[in-house]
Amino acid sequence: MQILPEDLEPRERYKLLIGGVVPRPIAFVSTISPEGALNLAPYSFFTAIGSNPMTMLFCPAALADGSDKDTLANCRPTSEGGVGEFVINVAVENYARKVAAAAEPLPHGESEFDLIGLTPVASSRVRPPRVAESPISYECETLQIVRTAPGEPASGNVVIGRVVCVHVDDELIDERFRIDPDAFGAFGRMGGFEYCRTRDRFAMPRGRAALEEQE
Ligand SMILES: Cc1cc2nc3c(=O)[nH]c(=O)nc-3n(C[C@H](O)[C@H](O)[C@H](O)COP(=O)(O)O)c2cc1C
Repeated sequence: MQILPEDLEPRERYKLLIGGVVPRPIAFVSTISPEGALNLAPYSFFTAIGSNPMTMLFCPAALADGSDKDTLANCRPTSEGGVGEFVINVAVENYARKVAAAAEPLPHGESEFDLIGLTPVASSRVRPPRVAESPISYECETLQIVRTAPGEPASGNVVIGRVVCVHVDDELIDERFRIDPDAFGAFGRMGGFEYCRTRDRFAMPRGRAALEEQE
């Protein structure tokens, strides 16, 4: 089947994106408003970009009226009325239901931290707090925001952050900076309301060696 985006409603295009780009890790993004209100929301349009400098991105879509979600408003640069900083706490299975619950649209200024019962703890180099219960958190300064169709309903926005501090639970990491995936317990988002665990894994070498039969 061949499908042209212009023949579809935005909702149908969204389904093609979230069903085909799977599994997606979940950035549990903590931010603070210029007035000091805390915010926490999950974003699965999320990935790492590069290691020099250390950069990551996540994508808060515009609301139905074309305006910015609170997370985006908070991490906009100070010149655009935001704080210019955010923390990506990678979502883990231990508190999976709290991640989904944090997507509840709350009135402006009310905190998801209070709704779901996770603990904000002071970050080292940015103003927004990190999530104490998160085994890995990345403190970020906003480098750039790319808007695919400014002000349009459901349009995409890419928030690019420079990582300025990383927090990792001691028991997750070895002396060579390798993360233990079982102890970490990250989970991913599939299409619809489905999620997946990261426990079912397999290993293989890269390049030609990957084609050789393994014992
Ligand atoms: C697991 C999960 C992943 C989500 N990923 C995204 C995403 O990548 N982009 C987006 O705009 N909304 C995403 N949402 C919806 C937002 O979390 C939701 O709109 C939230 O209320 C935004 O909060 P805020 O207005 O405080 O930023 C996701 C929701 C869930 C439950």
